[in-house]
Amino acid sequence: MSFFTLRLVDQGVEMLDQRALPGEEKYVLLRDGEEVARAIEDMVVRGAPAIGVAAAMGVAAELSRSPDEELEAALDRVVARLRRTRPTAVNLSWALERIGTHLRTLLREGASPERLRREARAMAQRIHDEDVAACRAIGDAGAELVRSEASVLTHCNAGALATAGYGTALGVIRSAAREGHVARVLACETRPYLQGARLTAWELSQDSIPVTLITDSMGGALMSQGEVDLVVVGADRIARNGDVANKIGTYSLAVLARAHDIPFYVAAPLSTVDRKAASGADIPIEQRSSEEVVVFANTRIAPEGVRALHPAFDVTPAEYISAIITELGIARPPYERSLASQTR
Ligand code: MRU
Repeated sequence: MSFFTLRLVDQGVEMLDQRALPGEEKYVLLRDGEEVARAIEDMVVRGAPAIGVAAAMGVAAELSRSPDEELEAALDRVVARLRRTRPTAVNLSWALERIGTHLRTLLREGASPERLRREARAMAQRIHDEDVAACRAIGDAGAELVRSEASVLTHCNAGALATAGYGTALGVIRSAAREGHVARVLACETRPYLQGARLTAWELSQDSIPVTLITDSMGGALMSQGEVDLVVVGADRIARNGDVANKIGTYSLAVLARAHDIPFYVAAPLSTVDRKAASGADIPIEQRSSEEVVVFANTRIAPEGVRALHPAFDVTPAEYISAIITELGIARPPYERSLASQTR
């Protein structure tokens, strides 16, 4: 892969600015927690695992700039700020919980400011590296579900750009493509933010994996014509019963896949499973601005005064999901049981 999504550097966090893709491959440097929080809110970095990693790195960057006597207060402040950035992807609060708990334990034990800063960086790096390893394991586990000459439909971007590297749904596609099993990927453009058109199409092209772009409303017709062998998507949060929150439009694809007897797979690391959410009803859905829908490429496409709805995610009930692929393997229904047995 010729790019990286994000990395910890001495001066802070370096990220590929995903808003500029596919036109420009530009990296930005974020020096503290507030800058990382804004980068998450502004979609410089997006995708559930990637924003979890970014948040952990934001904590490390903030602590490396805070005076010794303010470290404890800075930790509380930056964790609270980062937690408020985006509500649906549970990887964000998972990563903050993990790094926050670790650092508070060290504080209680009387760790020196230098040790605290060092441990913050080490933990952020660990969360990053574990995500790459999880994605590779997901890819390899999921590849066995892709038979040769497959036409694979995916939605949004669940790739290297949405993770620390390799990707979840695109990880499955990458591993299957390595085995020569992917004839083509159908990428839904993913209105209104166009993660499919801008990011998935770019990322797969970079890897020379054959990708064809479709508009979000084409899925059903293509399925009815026998043009889709399987669907694989990522997830922002998975409830204990297997209900999955993912990019708006995922639910429609899952229902269509069921109507056409096409397997519908979700690929996600265990950091996306929210053990506190019993079902999809417990998952908060981010509502984004009407402007992102009514304005397209800086041009207003709806009459003045018309407002648009913009839920960024939907919930696909577990009954439509053929399997959930995690780094520990393939979980099948009933998910209450299969996901409970997958713990790290
Ligand atoms: O709004 P986004 O671009 O952050 O939404 C991303 C998605 O919905 C992805 O499918 C999901 O986070 C899984 S990423 C591996």
